[in-house]
Amino acid sequence: MEKKPFYITTPIYYPSGNPHIGHCYTTVACDSIARYRRMQGYDVMFLTGTDEHGLKIEQKAAEKGVTPKEYVDEVVKTFKKLWSYMNISYDRYIRTTDDYHIETVQKIFKALYDKGYIYKGEYKGKYCTPCESFWTESQLDENGCCPECHREVTEAKEEAYFFKMSPFAERIEKLLTETDYLQPKTRATELVNNFIKPGLEDLCVSRTTFKWGIPVTFDDKHVVYVWIDALSNYISALGFWNEQYNDFDKFWPADVHMVAKDIMRFHAIIWPAMLMALDLPLPKHLAVHGWITFNGQKMSKSKGNAVDPFDALETYGADAIRWYFYTASAPWIPKKFSGKLVLEGQRKFMGTLWNTYAFFVLYANIDNFDATKYSLEYDKLAVMDKWILSKLNSAVAGVDECLSNYKIPEAAKYLQEFVDDLSNWYVRRSRERFWAKGMEQDKINAYMTLYTALVTISKAAAPMIPFMTEDIYRNLVCSI
Ligand code: ME8
Ligand code: MG
Repeated sequence: MEKKPFYITTPIYYPSGNPHIGHCYTTVACDSIARYRRMQGYDVMFLTGTDEHGLKIEQKAAEKGVTPKEYVDEVVKTFKKLWSYMNISYDRYIRTTDDYHIETVQKIFKALYDKGYIYKGEYKGKYCTPCESFWTESQLDENGCCPECHREVTEAKEEAYFFKMSPFAERIEKLLTETDYLQPKTRATELVNNFIKPGLEDLCVSRTTFKWGIPVTFDDKHVVYVWIDALSNYISALGFWNEQYNDFDKFWPADVHMVAKDIMRFHAIIWPAMLMALDLPLPKHLAVHGWITFNGQKMSKSKGNAVDPFDALETYGADAIRWYFYTASAPWIPKKFSGKLVLEGQRKFMGTLWNTYAFFVLYANIDNFDATKYSLEYDKLAVMDKWILSKLNSAVAGVDECLSNYKIPEAAKYLQEFVDDLSNWYVRRSRERFWAKGMEQDKINAYMTLYTALVTISKAAAPMIPFMTEDIYRNLVCSI
């Protein structure tokens, strides 16, 4: 039987500096979903990459006395190294400086122009250089500064191309309010009120004031500006309008784009508009999460408050950081990045799971117990065995349901509750059964119940903390 395709993407990150913990957050979340789908037998395409054009990168490179391409080449190496340390199982890595992507973007820009959706005009606005964003007067903060980073903006004006958004307003509003495209759907209201109700403004899609971008083929003093370049990655990476790859028909439309709320608007409004203008199907879901904060502010490179993930990896290890992300994005936990919380999560979940596993291994060794020689005989089990197994079943079903719907913190909660029950309730109350002499049925029941619980819960947790669960799983299933 042919496997069902599943296509998931992270944002493509700006390599204007090294990656920070915030970048890891989304990538780790996507990785857990990609692993989960692979385990379920899907043919998964997990895409990540870097968004390598723009003024800021041009400036950074100049500061360092290298070309923009030399500059991003170095940073991309760091991104890829980080993803390997974090155990990120991406299938494809797109760089917007790759020739095939450039080809696709140029063709898309031209097609939108030919269809009359892109026209030439003049851009006037307030520009924030660190954020690479133009803002309208009404978007500025109370001091007239950038609403993102709260630094000064400058008046800027230039000839530019615009993408006409108004023809799509009605369809987009329906998409956001009447379908399950946006997850969580509660965010639709702010989008509709802030951007659609006041009238969708046309989007500026080219620049003449810097060179580090994809040239507009029919007007080469312009380079394609940010969003048409960046958003197209999701289809150029599948070979749309280029010869590099050939799996657009297989993987498009994407199952899910995952992003944080800073770029929700672009993925909830502009990307659907672009696809509508191109007569392409829309992605099935856009999963939006909140920010990891630091001293009350969004952690970001441009604010200089970013935690270096390599330092964090050295201190805590990949699984602990991964686990922290899943639980830290939960509404019931403060989202501030803190080493204390990483350690607390590690102790509470991984420590508990590992101790329970160690308990099993210790006694199984003493007794020379080989789980593969026995089976779980449900009818003979004690009530507490049946109880923990029914908890196990509902935990696994809960994790499945949550990961299928991109509810990662909720999946983590199911796992945590089960390991707590297993350790604090089941093992504690069953201890004497393991101390019993010989190998009576009751002892076999206890062993087999614990074994089943450990193997099953490790498998359920594997997409989320792949390093540790693989150890447990391999030792229990392959070598006992
Ligand atoms: O916006 N907490 O790139 P970017 C959680 N190139 N997630 C965070 C985060 C934080 N503090 N900081 C960053 C861009 N992220 C564009 C995207 S896509 C076609 C183009 C994550 O380097 C989160 O996913 O600023 C956020 O949306 C993304 O990094 C922004 O990365
Ligand atoms: Mg950003």
